[in-house]
Amino acid sequence: GRSMAVFTSGGDSQGMNSAVRSVVRMGLYLGCRVFFIHEGYQGMVDGGNNIIEASWNSVSDIIQKGGTIIGSARCKDFRERAGRLKAAENLLQHSITNLVCIGGDGSLTGANQFRKDWAGLVQELIDAGRVPASKLAECPNIQIVGLVGSIDNDFCGTDMTIGTDTALHRIIEATDAVVSTAQSHQRAFVIEVMGRHCGYLALVAGLASEADWCFIPEWPPPTNWRELLCEKLAQMRSEGNRLNIIIVAEGAIDRDGSPISAELVQKVITETLHYDTRVTVLGHVQRGGCPTAFDRLLGCRMGAEAVLALMEMTPESEPCVVSIDGNQMVRVPLMQCVERTQAVQKAMDNKDWDTAVRLRGRS
Ligand code: F6P
Repeated sequence: GRSMAVFTSGGDSQGMNSAVRSVVRMGLYLGCRVFFIHEGYQGMVDGGNNIIEASWNSVSDIIQKGGTIIGSARCKDFRERAGRLKAAENLLQHSITNLVCIGGDGSLTGANQFRKDWAGLVQELIDAGRVPASKLAECPNIQIVGLVGSIDNDFCGTDMTIGTDTALHRIIEATDAVVSTAQSHQRAFVIEVMGRHCGYLALVAGLASEADWCFIPEWPPPTNWRELLCEKLAQMRSEGNRLNIIIVAEGAIDRDGSPISAELVQKVITETLHYDTRVTVLGHVQRGGCPTAFDRLLGCRMGAEAVLALMEMTPESEPCVVSIDGNQMVRVPLMQCVERTQAVQKAMDNKDWDTAVRLRGRS
């Protein structure tokens, strides 16, 4: 059987453990040797005890846990060729040439770069006498499958990323709790949610919690948003509502590109409407705790499909991402998705909001 390794990289997300478990068990079931790489790319670079063979039981009792039991890191060393050289040496030691990378677009881009460099890295190791000359024929390339683990749902090419559903549940639960106290005191609450440069969590939480207003980075409000916001909030009050809920994505911006922070929104409301207005920043609560059934199943299905994809790959195969498309697991070209994801950011940087929103869409 083949040797494969699984690692989690970048920010963690709920459901990653389910994906790790599924990769391990599907790999073993198909007769492969499966390794964990602890601490993401850092563990691949550092080697040693970070690379450990997995067994069927080593992934028992993790499906219900948040985070990632094999650790994750944002790694600088792997961005340098010297780091990737060490990583290649460590993988060759175990004859690992199949990788399942669970992470965001940055981690998947790193995997793609690694594959591009692979033959050169192996040759360099052979020339330096660090690995036997037979290794190049034995391991001519690495096969890579990516799974997107991120609470942000910020990756083009999949309907959902692993962790998003759980993060939404955290946000909705917190917002419901805020609503009850806001009602008692007739307050306005500005709730800041995560999502870096992606407004998905804010938008969907806004819909699901009946928020009065929502700020997202991909579609900044009209330049007179201060007046429009206050008009809307006042209208809600005049209709008998005792509270206001405003959801702000952490990356929200105005049409000039300057941040719209929760504090700024609070200031606008207090100065214009004189409502008692509070800010609640949900922070990493959104990224923790046990995964929902949806994220557990998504991790299971994506992990199993990743192993099946690796089994069918040859050294020539381009890396793919396993994504969910209308409740089906599908394989899509990794770099095409990464490029589209980066194009969204570029469109936002260029203040081309129509393009940003279009690219975020499905087709
Ligand atoms: O990408 C996931 C995410 O939680 C973002 O929503 C957020 O901006 C970022 O990670 C926070 O990163 P860190 O945990 O490194 O502070």
